[in-house]
Amino acid sequence: MKIISSIFFLIISITAYSQGNVYKQQATKWEGLAMTPPMGWNSWNTFETKIDEELVKQTADIMVSTGMKDAGYTYIVLDDGWMTKERDANGNLVPDPEKFPGGMKALVDYVHSKGLKFGLYNCAGTKTCAGYPGTRGFEYQDARFYASLGIDFLKYDWCNTEGINAKEAYTTMSNALKTAGKPILFSLCEWGDNQPWEWGEPVGNMWRISGDIYPCFDCEYKHPENWSSWGFMKIIDMRKGIRKYSGPDHWNDFDMLEVGNGMTYNEDKAHFSMWCMVASPLIAGNDFRSMSKETLAILTNKEMIAINQDKLGIQGFRHSDENKLEVWAKPLENGDWVITFLNRSEEKKQIDFDWQKHNIKDEINNIETKFNTVTYAVKDIWNKKQLASTKKAFKAAIAPHEVIVLKLTKNK
Ligand code: GLA
Repeated sequence: MKIISSIFFLIISITAYSQGNVYKQQATKWEGLAMTPPMGWNSWNTFETKIDEELVKQTADIMVSTGMKDAGYTYIVLDDGWMTKERDANGNLVPDPEKFPGGMKALVDYVHSKGLKFGLYNCAGTKTCAGYPGTRGFEYQDARFYASLGIDFLKYDWCNTEGINAKEAYTTMSNALKTAGKPILFSLCEWGDNQPWEWGEPVGNMWRISGDIYPCFDCEYKHPENWSSWGFMKIIDMRKGIRKYSGPDHWNDFDMLEVGNGMTYNEDKAHFSMWCMVASPLIAGNDFRSMSKETLAILTNKEMIAINQDKLGIQGFRHSDENKLEVWAKPLENGDWVITFLNRSEEKKQIDFDWQKHNIKDEINNIETKFNTVTYAVKDIWNKKQLASTKKAFKAAIAPHEVIVLKLTKNK
């Protein structure tokens, strides 16, 4: 009886095993395309859907002539609004011929000829957020189209997705991009609604962790349609415990930069510094054609960018917060650190930070400063000044919404 029932179960399990499911979809993004946080420019924050060929060409030219390209900005990404409102009779996406009279392929080639890379936007839903054709049901067809254009980056949004599963939708597009054969960095823009940090690593190279950014320090901007955009510190505060999910080729994306879009100089500096501290992609969102010298200087500060691009790829963390004076820390290669003081209050404050009384520890990566036994050279990055070492307390005044960023180099 025992033998008969074992044979019976064996037959049942063989039958169950052979029921159809012979192909397991692999979640295999194009790997190695974002070993440090991607840098570039995206049209949305300033231009929304008012984009065209001239704007892209001018932006590419300026990226080269101002030294932004040399500083590491590589991708030029057209966000929502680059297509016509309908697909063609064969279901293909159509770049808007009025905005792009020379054709999208020629524009991609132009950007490539400048040594830059090109990105486009679409959405996992039936329509994009601005009402253009979404990719749902057209994943492989759209991926082949992107590959035929030779693009390098796809931002993939999450509007009009009622009833679909985020992990599955993004996995399908990731697979489609892989199958189409052209390496394309896959940027998930799912706003953190379905915890992309938990499943995104094999699927994409970066994922948004929040709703849209707004150019203010700490405000919430309520749209009439019942959704909100967020000041940059709101985004910094928004998710707890996700830094362990970010790293080379799989970044937490804190959204595109608002530097140069109306905040004060100190706020712009604080915004850029915080994006460097948390190893976020650095995707500028301002109009390069009217960029001030100050904005350009912030965006191209090479020592700040080096902090963002550090090979370890560790997302920094808040070490302490005393009466709205915060201290942030990020471990770097070679045992170095960066420590950022951020004044979140509306008053000027006095910093008096005795290194010897602190031990700053990254609990996740088990790295600590050990100021008692290790001495570091200290450089104020924005003021470009070498200061006394960590043997001496650091004292300085700090204005409201200002940052002071100190690079600590281990004395060898
Ligand atoms: C969403 C995204 C934005 C932008 C717009 C375009 O709001 O989060 O970054 O892409 O859609 O419509």
